[in-house]
Amino acid sequence: MSGYQLAENVSLAGRNTFRVAARAAMMADVSRADALAGLFEFAMLREGPVLVLGEGSNLLFAGDFPGVAVCLTMAGVGIVQEDGGSALVRAEAGMNWNDLVGWTLARGLCGLENMALIPGTVGAAPIQNIGAYGVEVGEFVETVEAFQRDTGQVKRIAATDCGFGYRDSLFKRESERWVVTALELRLPRERDLRLDYAGVKEELAAMGIATPRAVHVAEAISRIRTRKLPNPAVLGNAGSFFKNPVVDAATAETMKAEHPLLPVFPGSDGQRKLSAAWLIEACGWKGFREGDAGVAAQHALVLVNHGQASGAQLLDLARRIAASVRERFGVALEPEPRIIGARFDTP
Ligand code: FAD
Ligand code: EPU
Repeated sequence: MSGYQLAENVSLAGRNTFRVAARAAMMADVSRADALAGLFEFAMLREGPVLVLGEGSNLLFAGDFPGVAVCLTMAGVGIVQEDGGSALVRAEAGMNWNDLVGWTLARGLCGLENMALIPGTVGAAPIQNIGAYGVEVGEFVETVEAFQRDTGQVKRIAATDCGFGYRDSLFKRESERWVVTALELRLPRERDLRLDYAGVKEELAAMGIATPRAVHVAEAISRIRTRKLPNPAVLGNAGSFFKNPVVDAATAETMKAEHPLLPVFPGSDGQRKLSAAWLIEACGWKGFREGDAGVAAQHALVLVNHGQASGAQLLDLARRIAASVRERFGVALEPEPRIIGARFDTP
């Protein structure tokens, strides 16, 4: 048993949530982490481009992928250690993230509730340090297990060495080097719930929940997300297309003085995050459509594929959006999804 299966010239259209057409020269489905060392002995993987592909919910294919797409299918989960107050949960990379959230909540563990319904795999979660409604996965990661291409070994990397930041990590910065194979998360049995993000308390009240538990928060956030974001199964998209721009406090104050309605959020190290959605909407893009490439009618930060848009068309639209925000507000927008087959080049 090699632990992997290879196929040539594979369509990626059903493997990215933008649902754009693209092909990979080769695809490797991997069912065991210890098979990676053997797989990466092949010259094509040792020397050529490799794309670790999860559920494709944070990717834009602007062209075909000329190398090997590696998909991890192992999806085991379990509690590896437990004390009175918390448990250490180990989940393998191929598990669906929202299934893991549900699995932990069903066992009375909390922490992941604010990140309910984020699409994608467990293995991708640390790549951009997924986050939502005031919580990021990095807060709970104890160890990331990852295959290191240059040494051919699976390493255990402590959270403090993962370089987690806002939509950022060591693994994202060194995307050619790491294949994340599993995560270990330390989850408490009780904690103060984080309910401060706009709309969460209101949603709980609308559900008739006076004393919320973590499962209720997950349900409230799932409801908000379902209303606010287009469902990729219905309308192709990759969630937020741009990161919220991070600026220093003085710049944020100047901008707020000029544009009093601009939402400004606290960032790390005294910095501020500006709402990219607001900047894009102010430039008139919300609901825009040209051919099948467009901007969601319900959220200005979400680019959508109405049917047959190509990755190149979506990328062209993204560039025009960023250029207009730059011209009107002097702020650079940086894409959140990884773009395959083209460079974005922030205007
Ligand atoms: P993919 O899209 O397949 O890959 C994304 C990147 O991670 C690529 O660079 C890929 O090479 C790399 N990668 C994937 N798996 C591995 C691995 N095992 N080892 C090494 N590299 C790997 N994100 C948030 O943070 N918060 C949100 O609230 C949120 N909401 C979203 C809503 C919608 C509707 C959509 C479509 C997306 C949203 N996203 C959000 C983005 C997306 O869900 C996350 O980035 C998710 O982690 C991507 O998982 P994936 O398995 O689809 O990864
Ligand atoms: N807004 C607009 N116009 C819009 C939509 C929103 O002006 O069309 C304003 C709202 O008024 C609100 C602000 O933008 O004050 C923030 O909106 P929202 O709460 O929807 O959050 P966001 O900043 O747009 C971020 C993440 C999301 C995450 C939510 C909730 C980024 C790039 N995006 O979006 O993550 O789910 O917060 O925490 O940080 C993703 O990464 O793909 C993603 C969906």
